[in-house]
Amino acid sequence: MKRLLVAAALAAFASSAYADAAATFKAKCAMCHGADGAGGAMHKASIKGTKEADVLKAINDGKGKMKPVKIDDAAAVAKFVSGLK
Ligand code: HEC
Repeated sequence: MKRLLVAAALAAFASSAYADAAATFKAKCAMCHGADGAGGAMHKASIKGTKEADVLKAINDGKGKMKPVKIDDAAAVAKFVSGLK
Protein backbone atom coordinates (compact mmCIF):
# COMPACT_ATOMS: atom_id res chain seq x y z
CA MET A 1 0.00 0.00 0.00
CA LYS A 2 2.75 2.38 0.96
CA ARG A 3 4.47 1.66 -2.34
CA LEU A 4 1.28 2.44 -4.23
CA LEU A 5 0.94 5.77 -2.48
CA VAL A 6 4.54 6.60 -3.23
CA ALA A 7 4.05 5.63 -6.87
CA ALA A 8 0.97 7.81 -7.08
CA ALA A 9 2.77 10.71 -5.46
CA LEU A 10 5.68 10.29 -7.83
CA ALA A 11 3.37 10.13 -10.83
CA ALA A 12 1.66 13.34 -9.76
CA PHE A 13 4.99 15.00 -9.25
CA ALA A 14 6.33 13.56 -12.49
CA SER A 15 7.23 15.30 -15.74
CA SER A 16 8.58 18.63 -14.54
CA ALA A 17 10.91 19.18 -11.60
CA TYR A 18 11.01 15.60 -10.41
CA ALA A 19 11.94 14.13 -13.78
CA ASP A 20 14.62 16.75 -14.27
CA ALA A 21 16.05 16.11 -10.82
CA ALA A 22 16.00 12.38 -11.45
CA ALA A 23 17.85 12.88 -14.72
CA THR A 24 20.43 15.09 -13.03
CA PHE A 25 20.88 12.52 -10.30
CA LYS A 26 21.48 9.82 -12.91
CA ALA A 27 24.00 11.96 -14.74
CA LYS A 28 25.87 13.52 -11.81
CA CYS A 29 25.40 11.36 -8.72
CA ALA A 30 24.52 7.81 -9.71
CA MET A 31 28.06 6.81 -10.67
CA CYS A 32 29.04 7.16 -7.03
CA HIS A 33 25.77 6.63 -5.20
CA GLY A 34 24.02 4.04 -7.35
CA ALA A 35 21.09 4.50 -9.71
CA ASP A 36 18.58 5.06 -6.92
CA GLY A 37 20.90 6.37 -4.20
CA ALA A 38 21.01 3.00 -2.50
CA GLY A 39 24.79 2.96 -2.58
CA GLY A 40 27.38 2.65 -5.30
CA ALA A 41 31.00 2.46 -6.28
CA MET A 42 32.25 5.46 -4.31
CA HIS A 43 29.84 5.50 -1.42
CA LYS A 44 28.44 2.16 -0.35
CA ALA A 45 25.99 3.53 2.19
CA SER A 46 22.54 4.56 1.05
CA ILE A 47 21.81 8.28 0.83
CA LYS A 48 18.09 7.70 0.35
CA GLY A 49 16.00 9.97 2.52
CA THR A 50 18.91 12.15 3.61
CA LYS A 51 17.56 15.45 4.91
CA GLU A 52 17.11 17.94 2.10
CA ALA A 53 19.38 20.53 3.74
CA ASP A 54 22.16 17.95 4.20
CA VAL A 55 21.94 16.84 0.57
CA LEU A 56 22.10 20.45 -0.58
CA LYS A 57 25.13 21.03 1.61
CA ALA A 58 26.87 17.93 0.24
CA ILE A 59 26.20 19.09 -3.34
CA ASN A 60 27.30 22.69 -2.78
CA ASP A 61 30.13 22.28 -0.28
CA GLY A 62 31.15 18.67 -0.72
CA LYS A 63 31.43 16.24 2.13
CA GLY A 64 34.49 14.25 3.11
CA LYS A 65 35.70 12.56 -0.06
CA MET A 66 32.85 13.99 -2.10
CA LYS A 67 33.73 17.15 -3.96
CA PRO A 68 31.14 19.85 -4.55
CA VAL A 69 29.04 19.10 -7.63
CA LYS A 70 28.18 21.94 -10.00
CA ILE A 71 24.58 21.60 -11.09
CA ASP A 72 21.88 24.17 -11.76
CA ASP A 73 19.09 22.30 -10.06
CA ALA A 74 20.78 21.47 -6.76
CA ALA A 75 17.67 22.34 -4.76
CA ALA A 76 15.47 20.05 -6.86
CA VAL A 77 18.01 17.23 -6.64
CA ALA A 78 18.21 17.68 -2.85
CA LYS A 79 14.46 17.35 -2.66
CA PHE A 80 14.58 14.31 -4.94
CA VAL A 81 17.19 12.51 -2.81
CA SER A 82 15.42 13.35 0.44
CA GLY A 83 12.26 11.82 -1.01
CA LEU A 84 13.87 8.53 -2.09
CA LYS A 85 12.54 5.52 -0.22
C1 HEC B 1 32.82 11.13 -7.29
C2 HEC B 1 31.82 10.44 -6.47
C3 HEC B 1 30.64 11.21 -5.98
C4 HEC B 1 29.74 11.94 -6.72
C5 HEC B 1 29.77 12.25 -8.20
C6 HEC B 1 28.73 12.38 -5.80
N1 HEC B 1 29.00 11.93 -4.54
FE1 HEC B 1 27.88 12.23 -2.86
N2 HEC B 1 29.29 11.30 -1.74
C7 HEC B 1 30.42 10.68 -2.22
C8 HEC B 1 31.17 10.14 -1.11
C9 HEC B 1 32.49 9.37 -1.21
C10 HEC B 1 30.45 10.47 0.07
C11 HEC B 1 30.85 10.16 1.51
C12 HEC B 1 31.58 11.37 2.02
C13 HEC B 1 32.17 11.12 3.40
O1 HEC B 1 31.38 11.14 4.36
O2 HEC B 1 33.37 10.94 3.46
C14 HEC B 1 29.27 11.19 -0.37
C15 HEC B 1 28.28 11.65 0.48
C16 HEC B 1 27.06 12.13 0.06
C17 HEC B 1 25.94 12.41 0.92
C18 HEC B 1 25.87 12.17 2.41
C19 HEC B 1 25.98 13.51 3.08
C20 HEC B 1 25.66 13.40 4.55
O3 HEC B 1 25.21 14.40 5.10
O4 HEC B 1 25.87 12.35 5.16
C21 HEC B 1 24.93 12.86 0.13
C22 HEC B 1 23.54 13.27 0.57
C23 HEC B 1 25.43 12.91 -1.22
N3 HEC B 1 26.73 12.45 -1.22
C24 HEC B 1 24.71 13.33 -2.30
C25 HEC B 1 25.20 13.45 -3.60
C26 HEC B 1 24.47 14.01 -4.71
C27 HEC B 1 23.04 14.51 -4.63
C28 HEC B 1 25.29 13.96 -5.78
C29 HEC B 1 25.02 14.47 -7.18
C30 HEC B 1 24.68 15.88 -7.33
C31 HEC B 1 26.53 13.36 -5.35
N4 HEC B 1 26.44 13.07 -4.02
C32 HEC B 1 27.62 13.12 -6.18
C33 HEC B 1 30.79 10.58 -3.54
C34 HEC B 1 30.16 11.20 -4.60
